[in-house]
Amino acid sequence: MQSPFLTDMLEGLNKTPKVLNSMYFYDKIGDTIFQEIMNMDAYYLPKVELEIIQNQTAEIANRLSSEELDIIELGAGDGVKTVAFLKNMIAAGKKVNYVPLDISPDVLEINKTNILSQIPELSIEPIAGDYFKTMAILKDRKKPKLILFLGSNIGNFKGQRGTDFLKLVKSHMTSEDHLLLGADLKKDPKTVLRAYNDPEGITARFNLNLLSRMNRELKANFDIKKFEHYPYYDPISGSCYSYLVSLENQSVEIADQTILFSKNECIHTEVSQKYSLNDLQELCESAGFEKFQTFLDQKQWFCLALTQ
Ligand code: AVJ
Repeated sequence: MQSPFLTDMLEGLNKTPKVLNSMYFYDKIGDTIFQEIMNMDAYYLPKVELEIIQNQTAEIANRLSSEELDIIELGAGDGVKTVAFLKNMIAAGKKVNYVPLDISPDVLEINKTNILSQIPELSIEPIAGDYFKTMAILKDRKKPKLILFLGSNIGNFKGQRGTDFLKLVKSHMTSEDHLLLGADLKKDPKTVLRAYNDPEGITARFNLNLLSRMNRELKANFDIKKFEHYPYYDPISGSCYSYLVSLENQSVEIADQTILFSKNECIHTEVSQKYSLNDLQELCESAGFEKFQTFLDQKQWFCLALTQ
């Protein structure tokens, strides 16, 4: 049987224009490069989100009436920001069970070690798998839930796909549950573009790793030097797009197929959507959420939206 990775890559490479699903960036190497991105000065997102977590978690805790909570994190990552969130929730008097969900089992291992080293008494139940599979477990949990979807991960779903994703989350929630959604806001376009176009080329390596991953796992023969990372931000729509541009006419073998690239042909690999507060409220409402409240950093670059 064909692996989902191979099926999805072939499907995307046979489309016009070519497109690859950004969920596949995160193999072991991709996870490491993403850690480097998170530490870059230009990649402001985790810094401003952490500022909100540090200054406003107590206020967020106040809005949740239940004392005991299952905190379920979608796309949990390494947990660096979540530690601060959990500590502040506990300090605000909440009794929490933490359930991190992530596509990468390696990252969940790091998450667990990291979090337990700082909050040794925490009950933690990591679950690996893609969102669509792991979210099903939410239905069986009886305690009131706070679902975390941080880091502007929602931004990878553009337009209707964002609505559909949030609808799916909502379908697993009861009327006492809340969602805390982290979203990157529209801002000075140069700042946004720089976050995806760092001078050291870390983001370029991250994007190109998708091709190397196909070489490693699918025995493809991409010549990485013949492709270039090209990010593009449209400040009106708030969409930041990443592409890989073919630098020459070339053909690539993958499984038993030959894929042709013409010079300057682009593969669309990622969208990182930026929102106005209004965009964000409309997005939540389109998914059926009725209550909506926002928590921002000083510069108003990022937003945590508490919605129900
Ligand atoms: C993890 C999806 C939020 O879109 O900003 C970082 C991934 N891509 N640099 C983002 C990413 C290029 C990131 N998210």
